Amino acid sequence: MDTRIVKINQDFPQPEILEEASVLLRQGELVAFPTETVYGLGGNALDETAAARIYAAKGRPSDNPLIVHIAEEEQVYELAGQIPAYAESLMKAFWPGPLTLILKKKSCVPDTTTGGLDTVAVRMPSHPVARELIRQSGVMIAAPSANASGRPSPTRAEHVAEDLSGRIAMILDGGEVGIGIESTIVDVTGTMPVILRPGYINRAMLEAVTGSVTVDPAILEKPQAGLRPKAPGMMYRHYAPRGELTIFEGEQSSVVARINAAAKEKTAGGYRVGIIATEETKNAYHYGWIISIGERSNESTIARNLYHVLRKMDEADMEIIFCEAFHTEAMGAAIMNRLCKAAGYRIEQVS
Ligand code: TXA
Ligand code: MG
Repeated sequence: MDTRIVKINQDFPQPEILEEASVLLRQGELVAFPTETVYGLGGNALDETAAARIYAAKGRPSDNPLIVHIAEEEQVYELAGQIPAYAESLMKAFWPGPLTLILKKKSCVPDTTTGGLDTVAVRMPSHPVARELIRQSGVMIAAPSANASGRPSPTRAEHVAEDLSGRIAMILDGGEVGIGIESTIVDVTGTMPVILRPGYINRAMLEAVTGSVTVDPAILEKPQAGLRPKAPGMMYRHYAPRGELTIFEGEQSSVVARINAAAKEKTAGGYRVGIIATEETKNAYHYGWIISIGERSNESTIARNLYHVLRKMDEADMEIIFCEAFHTEAMGAAIMNRLCKAAGYRIEQVS
């Protein structure tokens, strides 16, 4: 299959380009598009064949359900029932935006879309291309991140093309995304919200709207027997570069010294070593291939560059990757969650 890659204006998407994509979606084909978090791989959420195509194109296990993207809040009532009042407060506060809610599904949502679960994940994105595409196509769009399963999520159209060219009908290229890390997922099927995947919308922001919020204990540490994350996707080794990634946690100058020592040793051993540094530390490293993720003081830049930097490490064929930890203010939980998963929870404490 030829994949058509078309540039689209990210603020004022051209209707004729949206129409071309809409026709494909209505025919059950797949179209990748930008959202405010990462690029999504879209197909008709209510069409089982289209949903099955999404899993096939990504090489994704069929028990890992898809998020349904809507353009108007009312559409949630077509997909889900038994919606608690506190969930509606979260919608009012954060939609459109990077928040996905897990709700009791209605029968119109095929099992293929929900991986056989009786719940459905729903999100109303704020990115104009995503919203206008859903509106103009008249299709509610199931969209996982538009990467091949297991690879870092795509924050640019080039990343999508790297992974999915030849496997999908179209890529709408709206440039680099704004946030760079997938949406916060909150289970609202119980009496209290539970965070299943941390994201830009953090616990404090949610609690400001609904009071107490808990976090699925299974996402805080390495997946282990008996502690199954409620979001099936959080179980898989994910977001991962091909090289072996280790995170170093501790006071900055000690971390730099430890990474330098480790990089010196591995370089001498003949390995290709990459270091993920910051603007503040990049000149303090002396071995391996050093790439800056941005200023430590600017956490939005770190979040936006994270997957790009991991992909760069792959492009440069790095076999061993060392990275500083990023326990930043608002997005630290989300950034560290993705980084820990990418590292297979290989974390070294430096004292
Ligand atoms: O920001 C985002 O959410 C992006 C953009 C494209 O919208 N999408 C995204 O989709 O990250 P994906 O498929 O890469 O991640 C969806 C996550 C998976 O971990 C999946 O297991 C979980 O959502 N999920 C989907 N439906 C669920 C359900 N009914 N119950 C629990 N977890 C669910
Ligand atoms: Mg994903």
